[in-house]
Amino acid sequence: MSPLSVVNPFRSVGGVGNPKGVEPTLMVLFGATGDLAKRKIIPSIANLAQNGLLPSAFALLCVGRTDQTDDAYRAELKSTLREFAHGVPVEVIDALLRNVFFVRCPPDDPNSVRVLAERMVGIDRDRGTRGNRLFYLSTPPSAFFPILELLGRVRTQPGANPDRASYRVILEKPFGRDLETAIDLNRRLLDVFREHEIYRIDHYLGKETVQNVLVLRFANSIFEPLWNHRYIDHVQISVAETLGVEGRGGYYEESGALRDMVQNHILQLLCLVAMEPPAALDPESIRDERRKVLRSIRPILRDDVDLFAVRGQYGPGSIGGKRVPGYREEPSVKPNSRTETYAAVRFDIDNWRWAGVPFYLRTGKRLPKKVSEVAIVFRDIPHRLFDAQGPTELDANVLSLRIQPDEGIALKFGTKVPGFDMRVRPVKMDFQYGAAFGVAPPEAYERLLLDAMLGDPTLFIRGDIAEDAWRLVMPIVDVWANSTPEGFPNYESGSFGPAAADEMLERDGYSWRRF
Ligand code: BG6
Repeated sequence: MSPLSVVNPFRSVGGVGNPKGVEPTLMVLFGATGDLAKRKIIPSIANLAQNGLLPSAFALLCVGRTDQTDDAYRAELKSTLREFAHGVPVEVIDALLRNVFFVRCPPDDPNSVRVLAERMVGIDRDRGTRGNRLFYLSTPPSAFFPILELLGRVRTQPGANPDRASYRVILEKPFGRDLETAIDLNRRLLDVFREHEIYRIDHYLGKETVQNVLVLRFANSIFEPLWNHRYIDHVQISVAETLGVEGRGGYYEESGALRDMVQNHILQLLCLVAMEPPAALDPESIRDERRKVLRSIRPILRDDVDLFAVRGQYGPGSIGGKRVPGYREEPSVKPNSRTETYAAVRFDIDNWRWAGVPFYLRTGKRLPKKVSEVAIVFRDIPHRLFDAQGPTELDANVLSLRIQPDEGIALKFGTKVPGFDMRVRPVKMDFQYGAAFGVAPPEAYERLLLDAMLGDPTLFIRGDIAEDAWRLVMPIVDVWANSTPEGFPNYESGSFGPAAADEMLERDGYSWRRF
């Protein structure tokens, strides 16, 4: 039996079969026993397998600190996959598990260099993965440097990185905890990898509806002419969650909403909404345009942080009729914690397209609804013709791009209320992904894993973009770190966030959208 027929069970069991021509790949997963790996990464691999999207030869080498045989690890993984890879048939899981391996490789153990290299070369031989490596660092950031050092040394071992084979790395967020650490991490990465081999994940970019922002803008003729300061009044980007910190108190205490969501996911959304049309659809043309947006954002001065940014922390309250504890009562959270679980920021983009159009960003945990949306609020009409006819409810036109849940796009506009008088009321024209296409969009991680195997970094964060995004939030990070927040906890679980966030918009004559 040829090695390819051993490792290509997926075409026969599911889906359309590797239509994109992904090269044979050995994925080496660090942090394989962690939550993210179990809940998202490995189940996404199983889904790709089911859809026939894995390469013809694919193997997964999971790296841990404990000694375990391949078989023992496979048995453990099988129950994980039964729990988290819903709907993947058992024969697909079994076929995948035959290509899963486990190796003990603590980065600080001098033997690890040889052990890892030999294991990879052995898997290439048995499974036909041809020396193509995709390392995935799904570990706490404190483990990044030792692992990178290990991978640098492994790269020089015989057979570890053969000519013309790929040597790529995916990094989970957080990418640094401030500008300085992000620069340092970039430097360390570049000691081992070249920029085009580095895939910094921002899972929001893998969401189908986030990618659709570009399609909406650049595959239609009706929106782009309006997409500028002449017609758009302001933009609101909201990522609201009902969940609290869900057992991640330790991580969150070091992070907070600004680092956890604004520096990455929300700023990337802003880039897609605000960028210029790229010259072509190649990764660097698109990433260059995203970066130009970040470079055009007006830096917030430290003295102005209180005017342009608001922080909040949830207290106890109720969500969906259930009582929930406050942030300070969550496990691993300090009883007097100053960490923000809500952040709202106003950014201004100093370029021709967006001059005078504020972008308001907000995110929070324990808000009343889980909603991620971008709302483009258009300017008021120049003259209110129908006011003379009686009471009108003329709201501004709003184009809302719903990222999740209920993925779709809605346009709000005024219409005549049926009857003999001339009354006007806003209505909504609503496009829903689910109803229109009848299929659920793929998981962000599936898309991103596939892209990394294909060598397409478009939906990943380039090093300079990560640094620019940090540069923008640093004044807020610094000011908040060096001052005591007023009245924390300052919003009740189940409410829309702190009053100060409403006041920030009221000062500008606006209000936050209610979902
Ligand atoms: C993660 C954050 O990056 O994104 C979490 O660390 C947050 O705190 C999550 O809950 C939100 O992602 P999603 O896909 O559920 O909107």
